[in-house]
Amino acid sequence: MSNKMPLHKIRLGVNIDHVATVRNARGGVEPDPLRAALLAQEAGADGITAHLREDRRHIKDEDIARLMAHINIPLNFEMAATDEMLAIAISHKPASACIVPEKRQELTTEGGLDIIGGYDHLKPYIVALQEAGISVSLFIDADVRQIKASKEIGADKVELHTGAYVDALGEKRVNQLERLRSGAAYCASLDLEVHAGHGLNYQTVEAVAEIPEFCEFNIGHFLIGEAIFVGLDQAIAEMRRLMDKGRAAI
Ligand code: PXP
Repeated sequence: MSNKMPLHKIRLGVNIDHVATVRNARGGVEPDPLRAALLAQEAGADGITAHLREDRRHIKDEDIARLMAHINIPLNFEMAATDEMLAIAISHKPASACIVPEKRQELTTEGGLDIIGGYDHLKPYIVALQEAGISVSLFIDADVRQIKASKEIGADKVELHTGAYVDALGEKRVNQLERLRSGAAYCASLDLEVHAGHGLNYQTVEAVAEIPEFCEFNIGHFLIGEAIFVGLDQAIAEMRRLMDKGRAAI
């Protein structure tokens, strides 16, 4: 065990976007993402994550209002840096906002934000969110320059994109894991809280949990898919077990 870092438990943020994806496939009210959030809360989730996309393809405005009204754990509001999303965030004041890049045609959030190129655009959004009492996270790739820029721009924390690690196989996955490891260590050296997320599943979560600096994972698609077979509570319990196992192995 490292003698530099305290062995803290990793928080699990459950992303319920894809409950809304299934609901929207029929245009009705079922399945209800709030019900999933309350079940996740009951099953031990430490937070709920929801991404209100510009095209409202899954979570809708009323979902955010209902989540804020009914859950007792923090809501992490994923948003693009737009005036519309900023106004919605400020009106609801979630515990945190995670700024993500958003392209209309993408199936999911494909890569991290470019903090260096987008510095002047992003800065006022970060300041406005923080002035409203919302802690700001930036979703970035595990890139030293982007991490450094995230610190300089004044983010409270960053979430490192785990998609490239999850998608890689064999030696390439090992290399991506090393990238996450050195990225997380660099965040800690800058006193920047570091989270991870995107594409994590039972096969890939444990090794990331062994990286001591990570203190929160945000996981959605796999958990909601697995819930079809074993129920959301069981899927969360197994993810929690693997996260704790990875963390205990440090
Ligand atoms: N973190 C961020 C910033 C994301 O954009 C997403 C996807 O919406 C996730 C975590 C969760 O990814 P997944 O649904 O693949 O687990």
